Amino acid sequence: MSFRAVSKEALVGSVTLGVVFAAGYFLGKRKPFRMSISKSHSGGQDDPLLQYVLNHSLREHPSLKNLRLRTMEDSWNIMMVACEQSQFMANMAKLIKTKKALEIGVYTGYNTLSIALTLPDDGVIVACDISEDYTNIGKKFWKEAGVEKKIDLRIQPAVKTLDELLDAGQAETFDFVFIDADKTSYDTYYEKSLQLVRKGGIIAIDNVLWGGKVLSPSPDDADTVAIDKLNKKLHRDTRVSLSMLTVGDGLTLAIKI
Ligand SMILES: C[S@@+](CC[C@H](N)C(=O)[O-])C[C@H]1O[C@@H](n2cnc3c(N)ncnc32)[C@H](O)[C@@H]1O
Ligand SMILES: *[C@@H]1O[C@H](CO)[C@@H](O)[C@H](O)[C@H]1NC(C)=O
Repeated sequence: MSFRAVSKEALVGSVTLGVVFAAGYFLGKRKPFRMSISKSHSGGQDDPLLQYVLNHSLREHPSLKNLRLRTMEDSWNIMMVACEQSQFMANMAKLIKTKKALEIGVYTGYNTLSIALTLPDDGVIVACDISEDYTNIGKKFWKEAGVEKKIDLRIQPAVKTLDELLDAGQAETFDFVFIDADKTSYDTYYEKSLQLVRKGGIIAIDNVLWGGKVLSPSPDDADTVAIDKLNKKLHRDTRVSLSMLTVGDGLTLAIKI
């Protein structure tokens, strides 16, 4: 590990030079901080440090493991959340005693299941997706784990579901939200989630580093532009406390003040 070497260098000369050096060092040379952070289930095999993290922390429920293995047979499996990230979010959800959760972008439902497993018996996760093909893959495993009753799957554009929840008077009632669907709607999802979540509730936003593309967004790449714009807005947003984590493809936690 070269954290110590980097901070020593940062002390040499002006702080600015040190920071520039450190940034160059992190972005250019140091492997675990390369532009694209490995995902544990796709490409993570080449990253011994990530392997170490997984070997020493992952506690995957048998049904989560079965669902992951089934998801790996799907050609879009790169979309699945990183396992260690999902476990982290489940721990966060548990920490704030989540009873009511919301997931925007379910795919095969790995994270939906992971959160459902931490919910109390009367807890619920509203799961939003537009694809029955993807979500049908997960249902069998939700049932296998005995938590299917806690999962309220809504197949329609997520914005419609969020508006329905708001119309039904559910503002400020959610504890935990995970935003992980189409990137150009991220800002809309964030604003509606902020209305739906209670004070002290968490909005987790996935793919905030977008494989490193946020470093130089191309104007004609709408996804990268949308993510970078939201990242910049969140940095100034006084309605939330903020953390941006380099787990998976980048994860922002916005905690409603
Ligand atoms: C990155 S995947 C979600 C991964 C998932 N959170 C997991 O734990 O593995 C994105 C999902 O968003 C869904 N999606 C795309 N556009 C959507 C929309 N407008 N409303 C709801 N879901 C949408 C896709 O069908 C896809 O399943
Ligand atoms: C992780 O565990 C696997 C399987 O037991 C082992 O082959 C590998 O060497 C381990 N890697 C690290 C870095 O701990």
